[in-house]
Amino acid sequence: SKKLLVDVDCGVDDAQAIMMALASPNVEILGITCVHGNTTVENVCKNVLRVLQCCNKLEIPVFKGAAKPINGNNINAGHFHGQDGLGDVPDPNAPGLDLVQEENAVSAMIRIVSENPGKISLVATAPLTNLALAVKMDPSLPSKLRGLYIMGGNTESRGNTTVVGEFNFVADSEAAYIVLNEYQCPTYLACWEFTCYNKLPWEFCDAWLAQDTDKSRFMARIFHYSIEASKTERLQKELVAGAGFISCDSYAMAAAIDDSFIIEKDQYPVSVELNGTHTRGMMIVDTIGFLKKTHEAFILKKVDMEKFKEMMMAALK
Ligand code: BDR
Ligand code: CA
Repeated sequence: SKKLLVDVDCGVDDAQAIMMALASPNVEILGITCVHGNTTVENVCKNVLRVLQCCNKLEIPVFKGAAKPINGNNINAGHFHGQDGLGDVPDPNAPGLDLVQEENAVSAMIRIVSENPGKISLVATAPLTNLALAVKMDPSLPSKLRGLYIMGGNTESRGNTTVVGEFNFVADSEAAYIVLNEYQCPTYLACWEFTCYNKLPWEFCDAWLAQDTDKSRFMARIFHYSIEASKTERLQKELVAGAGFISCDSYAMAAAIDDSFIIEKDQYPVSVELNGTHTRGMMIVDTIGFLKKTHEAFILKKVDMEKFKEMMMAALK
């Protein structure tokens, strides 16, 4: 079976990605590490526990990680995911934070990877603070990974958080820089524009939520806020033709779960701009080789959307 370690800032699409993994046969999640991002790291921990509770998987250990980016202040995505990260719907039965492990997320990441050398696929769907801290503590960590799957960055200078910056890379640009430059392992990137070209049509979302299960009812509740935000946000409509929801984090997850999901990928050295009036946090794709980097990342280009829809459907079964 495939062993995953998942690093999240559990907003709505992180929740969708986690549920996809939980529903996949032959996938084992060894731990979920939490980080600031869409909301506070405390809310993120709570949200992950709510997702696990809904899926009857509370035995999966949840770890709390960084509350702030490496340099500077938090941003959040409350306008899109709700202030609490999951659509601001009351959940009186939410598990308590006492279920969160005592071990810190960064230590847990280093430990779990060391205990399973060459076996773990690390899926990061959040600002990369925990991953950056982990490689600084243990520089040998990347060499022990089977693969790294990241949702973040951009390839066509189109942003969703700044003019040219994607949320996860803007929320901790130093961390993104450290990870792209120090994780010398097979690295797969699901970038913002790629996710936009592969929207899930609203008709699919309707059918998805109409499944008569507790999971789909849970999803419908937490999803409502983002659906409305998606439909009204100008950039979501304008980026590419064809309306639908962009479950950003689920693409990185699908790539980690099923190798055949990726039909076509690019392979280039990548980095992150740390300065610039407008460009801080923007991903740099070095197509000509100016950076003289030896490590190249895989950038998702074309994927099997039928397979993706099947995996999404199964997530709520
Ligand atoms: C990313 O930003 C977050 O709001 C989403 O959860 C996703 O990880 C998309 O840019
Ligand atoms: Ca996320």
